[in-house]
Amino acid sequence: MKQIIIITGAGKGIGKAIALEFARAAEKQTGFDPVLILASRTISDLESVATECRSFGATADIFQVDIADTAQIERLVSTTLERYGTIDCLVNNAGVGRFKPLAELTEEDFDYTMSINLKGTFFLTQRVFAVMEEKRSGHIFFITSIAAKMAFKSSSLYCMSKFGQNGLVEAIRLYAKTCNVRITNVMPGAVYTPMWGEVPDAMKSVMMRPEDIAAPVVGAYFMPQRTSVEELVIRPVCGDINE
Ligand SMILES: NC(=O)c1ccc[n+]([C@@H]2O[C@H](COP(=O)([O-])OP(=O)(O)OC[C@H]3O[C@@H](n4cnc5c(N)ncnc54)[C@H](OP(=O)(O)O)[C@@H]3O)[C@@H](O)[C@H]2O)c1
Repeated sequence: MKQIIIITGAGKGIGKAIALEFARAAEKQTGFDPVLILASRTISDLESVATECRSFGATADIFQVDIADTAQIERLVSTTLERYGTIDCLVNNAGVGRFKPLAELTEEDFDYTMSINLKGTFFLTQRVFAVMEEKRSGHIFFITSIAAKMAFKSSSLYCMSKFGQNGLVEAIRLYAKTCNVRITNVMPGAVYTPMWGEVPDAMKSVMMRPEDIAAPVVGAYFMPQRTSVEELVIRPVCGDINE
């Protein structure tokens, strides 16, 4: 049976690795036939990830979407439902960070961060959860962060948004438990992705890689339906970076 899986921020970094991990599983696991709905703002990234996913035999569809815009969220969800009839999994991965000392953060930094990490994540989850609630099955992942439960000095806005995502995760769990929907909060430490820009070699060498997050995410998806992996906390073996 086809599994309809939406992954936001699938064009780069952790989201791309999760898409590829699901695609590889399609090649390895008999009976797993995923339709990967790859969503982000940059179409060229999505096209290249889709091509890679298809090389493993997975079906991949791409959507150019800015999750900060609720009309675009609606278009993503309604088009997915028209084309495929349902949604089995949502990976809330798209997210941004503006990392600066407290005094340098602007109103524009605030609005940009919150419109994506909080508003976008909230309204996409709300829309998809309604579909899953009605059919009484589904799995929603939130790629929050270790910064959702501990503070880092140059990350005040980022931490605020990620702590906020944690609030949504805990609230939605209360609904999800009553309708057989699985919720997984994924809290990675430092992962070397485009989000970090240039980093010194010494730091790069101790950071995790996107595939280190993707493998346990897909593993959690394949756990028996009677189980829900509620949290995945994954750190570099040397501990947190930028403490
Ligand atoms: N890297 C880390 O150390 C780390 C650690 C813990 C948690 N995380 C979290 O993991 C998630 C992925 O991070 P990453 O490091 O992989 O970041 P990344 O390399 O910058 O990739 C982010 C992805 O999200 C997409 N995106 C950003 N804003 C979007 C929007 N408004 N609408 C749709 N898509 C959007 C980006 O594509 P476009 O720009 O083309 O839209 C890109 O594909 C984020 O939520 C981040 O907070 C990262």
